[in-house]
Amino acid sequence: MKKKKIALFGFGCVGQGLYDIIQQQNDLPFEISKICVKDPNKTRNLPGSVFTYDKHEIFNDNDIEIIAEAISDDDEALEIVKLALKHGKKVVSASKKMLADNLADLIELESKSSGVLIYEASVCGSIPILRTLQDYYQRSSIDGISGILNGSSNYILSKIIDEDCSYTTALREARELGFAETDPTLDVGGFDASNKLCIIARHGFHMPLKTKEIFQFGIRHISEHEIAFAQKKGYKIKQVAILQKTKPNRYLAMVIPAFVDGHHPLYKIDNEYNGVILQSEFMGDQLLTGKGAGSHPTGWAMFSDLLAITNGYRYNYYNNDPAGSLPDTDFAFNIYLKCTSDMVMIALDFKLLEDLSPGTAYRFVYGSVKLKDLLKFRSSENFKTTFITLDLRYLLNKLSGINEKKGIVKAMV
Ligand SMILES: NC(=O)c1ccc[n+]([C@@H]2O[C@H](COP(=O)([O-])OP(=O)(O)OC[C@H]3O[C@@H](n4cnc5c(N)ncnc54)[C@H](OP(=O)(O)O)[C@@H]3O)[C@@H](O)[C@H]2O)c1
Repeated sequence: MKKKKIALFGFGCVGQGLYDIIQQQNDLPFEISKICVKDPNKTRNLPGSVFTYDKHEIFNDNDIEIIAEAISDDDEALEIVKLALKHGKKVVSASKKMLADNLADLIELESKSSGVLIYEASVCGSIPILRTLQDYYQRSSIDGISGILNGSSNYILSKIIDEDCSYTTALREARELGFAETDPTLDVGGFDASNKLCIIARHGFHMPLKTKEIFQFGIRHISEHEIAFAQKKGYKIKQVAILQKTKPNRYLAMVIPAFVDGHHPLYKIDNEYNGVILQSEFMGDQLLTGKGAGSHPTGWAMFSDLLAITNGYRYNYYNNDPAGSLPDTDFAFNIYLKCTSDMVMIALDFKLLEDLSPGTAYRFVYGSVKLKDLLKFRSSENFKTTFITLDLRYLLNKLSGINEKKGIVKAMV
C-alpha cells in the first residue's frame, strides 16, 4: 500500500524525537517526506535535501496529506495549522501556547474544513490525557482536574527540595535536558501550566477556559523560607494546576506552588514527571502519570496522534457550559505568604492565622485569602517579590466539606 506523506515542521527537541521514533518503526502507513525548519545555516544530522525553509513548498505539494507541527514560533505555528486546515490536511500539533490562545477559532475552522486537528503532545508529554478525556470520560461528569502539568518546574522544585540544588543550577539542568521551553519564563512563571489547563478544560469540562481567568503564580521567586519550611515539615513543593467546580456555574482555576504532604498522590511525582488527577462521579479519583516533557516522550505523543489521525480519529467538541461559568472569586483558602512588607498583607486583605517569622525584617506568615484579592494583587509591583504557597491539605478539606453540605464537590483525593 502507498504510504501517506507527512511534512514535519520543526526539527528541535520534539521534532527530532518524533523523527527518531518513526525511524525505529516498521510497516508504518506513513513516512516523512519533508522537514520544514527556520535556520538554513544550522548543521543538521540528515541530508540537506530533506529540509525546506519555505512552508509554501509543503502546502503546494498535494501529495502531502498530514502535517506534524512542532515549532517554537507560536505565530508561525498558528499560520501553519490554519493553512493546513484550509487545505483540508490532517494536522497534529504540539504547540500548547498557540493552541490555548486560539483553540476556539481553530475548532471553528476545523468544523468548516475537511481537515482534522489533534494535539495530544501539547499537554503533559507522554500522558494520554486528551485521548482519555475524549474516549473514556466522554459521558462522565468531571468535578475536578488537578495536577502537575509542567515538567520543567517540577524538575526544578524536585532538585531544590530533594537535592538542595540552587534554583539557577536546577533551571540550567532542566534546559540542558530539553524539558524547558525556549523561553523558560513560560515554565517557571506558570504560563505553560495555565495553557495546558485551558486545553484540558476544553476536553474535560467542555468549557472554553481562558488563561486570564486562571490565578497564576510561578516559582521564580521561591525563597529559602519556603524551602526550609518544606524540608522541616517533610513536605514537597509542587506547582499545582487546579480546575474545580465549587458551586453551580462557579469554578476555581489556579496554577500555584503548593506544599504537598506525603499522603497526597502528587507527592511522589518528581523531576520531569507530570501527574493529573481526574475526579469524576462514577469512577472516583484517577491519577495518570508519566514523563511530561522531553524529546522522546513528547515525540511519542505526536507519533501516537499520527497513527490515530491516519485511522480517522478526531476530537468531538460540545459546550457543557452554555450559561458561561465564572471564577468563584469569593472563594477563600489558606496560603503561606512570604513578603517584605505588611502592605502586602493589607493589599491582600490577608487574615493572619500564624506568624512564622516573628521579629524578622521579612514576613513569613500563614493565613486566609480570597481569590478576588489575589487576582487584584496580581497587577501590583509587590507581586514580583512576594511568594505564595498554597496549603493544599486545607483546600482539599474545604472542598470535601462543600461536598458534604451541597453535594457539588468531592474531595480530590
Ligand atoms: N520540549 C518539550 O518537552 C515540549 C513538550 C511539549 C510541547 N512542546 C512544544 O513543541 C514545540 C516545539 O518545541 P521544541 O522543544 O521542540 O523546540 P526547539 O527544540 O526550540 O525546536 C524548535 C524548532 O522549530 C523550528 N522553527 C522555529 N521557528 C520556525 C519557523 N518560523 N518555521 C519553521 N520552523 C521553525 C526550529 O528551526 P531551526 O532548527 O531552524 O532553528 C526548530 O527546529 C513548542 O511549541 C513547544 O511548546 C515542547
